[in-house]
Amino acid sequence: MRLVGFAIAVCGYLGFCGEFAVHAQENTTSDREPTRTRPVNLFIINEGTNRVANSSVISALETINEKYPSHLGKVWSVQVNESDVNDTLDRICSAWDSAVEKGGTRVPDLLIDTTTAGLAAKISNSFTAALGIPTLSAQYGQEGDLLYWRNLNMDQQGYLIQVMPPTDLIPQAVRELCVQLNISNAAILYDQNFVMDHKYKSLLLNVATRHVINEIDPEIAEMKKQLATLRDLDIVNYFVLGDENIIDAVLEIAEVSNFTGKKFGWFLLTPEINILPNCDCKNINALFMRPEFSKKNPTTGPSLPKPVISSAFYYDLVQLGVDAMKLALDNGDWPMEPKHITCNEYDNTNTPKRKLNFFNRLKEAYENMTPTYAGIKWGSKNGEHQAKFEMSVRLVNIKDGVVSNNIEGGSWNASISTPLQVTLKKWSRERTEN
Ligand SMILES: *[C@@H]1O[C@H](CO)[C@@H](O)[C@H](O)[C@H]1NC(C)=O
Ligand SMILES: *[C@@H]1O[C@H](CO)[C@@H](O)[C@H](O)[C@H]1NC(C)=O
Ligand SMILES: *[C@@H]1O[C@H](CO)[C@@H](O)[C@H](O)[C@H]1NC(C)=O
Ligand SMILES: *[C@@H]1O[C@H](CO)[C@@H](O)[C@H](O)[C@H]1NC(C)=O
Ligand SMILES: *[C@@H]1O[C@H](CO)[C@@H](O)[C@H](O)[C@H]1NC(C)=O
Ligand SMILES: *[C@@H]1O[C@H](CO)[C@@H](O)[C@H](O)[C@H]1NC(C)=O
Ligand SMILES: *[C@@H]1O[C@H](CO)[C@@H](O)[C@H](O)[C@H]1NC(C)=O
Repeated sequence: MRLVGFAIAVCGYLGFCGEFAVHAQENTTSDREPTRTRPVNLFIINEGTNRVANSSVISALETINEKYPSHLGKVWSVQVNESDVNDTLDRICSAWDSAVEKGGTRVPDLLIDTTTAGLAAKISNSFTAALGIPTLSAQYGQEGDLLYWRNLNMDQQGYLIQVMPPTDLIPQAVRELCVQLNISNAAILYDQNFVMDHKYKSLLLNVATRHVINEIDPEIAEMKKQLATLRDLDIVNYFVLGDENIIDAVLEIAEVSNFTGKKFGWFLLTPEINILPNCDCKNINALFMRPEFSKKNPTTGPSLPKPVISSAFYYDLVQLGVDAMKLALDNGDWPMEPKHITCNEYDNTNTPKRKLNFFNRLKEAYENMTPTYAGIKWGSKNGEHQAKFEMSVRLVNIKDGVVSNNIEGGSWNASISTPLQVTLKKWSRERTEN
């Protein structure tokens, strides 16, 4: 008897030998909870344009299957398309309805949402909230930005969890810089690594910086026109949020357009690690920020697409979600046979009650994981949980095409509202905006 009990405990703890555990429970005495568990079934919603997420999710699933073959059961994956609302809801609902209609143990337990911030993201939110599906979301958005997750009831708050991805935090440095350096006008230009829909109003709210926020055109000729137009608006401070190619291209244009004197301020923010700005410039100064990690290269692990800070975030998040849901299953706080409703069955009042504190299980699983790059900082509610990483602030001078000066100006713990610690007083005094 004791041996069997012990074997069950070990099986439950290690999460394998499933068959044996199920079999052995017949021999346990009734004072003990039967050890019944099973793998986690996943339902994934990804946005067609979020390629970094797509390939990182695939890598994460492969890793889980290698390391913990008994953790992952069935996987459904839906690609949604921003541009067609009806199509998005149809795709999600037809995949969902066919996944749940048979019931039993082979229905989705957890939904992983890697949509970003547009219509597809809103549809995904309203779907998960209505049908009561435990969800780990990597959507962009601060408190209140997730429209359909704004008024969650207590039950839903336990299992609908959003963690802001790294590229949702980097733009906040613009706000901190504008405040610290007393910047009076600014153009904020971003590439496809960033999503700014939700930031147009909030980013520089209550900051006295006249500004425009535009997506940058990756075509050199168009980019040049864009910068000239901004210059015509008497803008002399340029914040460029982009990858290495975009940053270097902007600098080349600054050079040929003569936007290089003391009058101009160049602020370059990148999600890429281990890069420095580069251009064939005679003499240009720029403030440069990039993520920094003590661990420069993950020792093991898959090859993840650039920017690694983003792909590693999705990669870790999927594994974390599966680990957390596995804990919930193993501990009996999520049933072997979850009851789901289909899209058609939903009537505005019948969202299933879950009594699942998935948030606590996430935090518990996080304690036992080593993040690939960025970690996670848990807050108390959605709009507060975020990727955790530090960015360096450097003053870079490029003279005759060579990065000749590279002064560390400080560092910043990426967040929605952490002030930037910069020691750039001299630099800002030397600049004459007007
Ligand atoms: C459990 O008990 C049954 C008989 O009640 C026995 O046939 C079976 O071998 C036992 N299983 C284990 C794992 O001890
Ligand atoms: C999204 O839908 C539009 C129009 O239906 C189509 O042109 C486009 O190719 C689709 N994009 C993806 C990524 O499926
Ligand atoms: C990734 O994208 C491909 C092609 O669009 C799709 O078939 C696949 O299901 C996606 N995988 C995930 C996990 O989203
Ligand atoms: C979406 O579907 C509804 C109802 O079927 C229809 O009335 C509407 O025109 C559709 N919208 C688009 C953009 O296709
Ligand atoms: C910020 O700029 C304004 C206008 O240029 C100026 O009046 C103010 O004194 C400056 N504040 C600081 C702290 O430099
Ligand atoms: C930039 O400055 C140089 C030297 O002052 C001048 O020859 C050139 O015409 C200027 N270019 C533009 C685009 O204004
Ligand atoms: C960032 O946070 C860490 C603790 O997580 C702290 O040790 C460090 O000083 C912080 N850095 C800055 C620049 O605030």
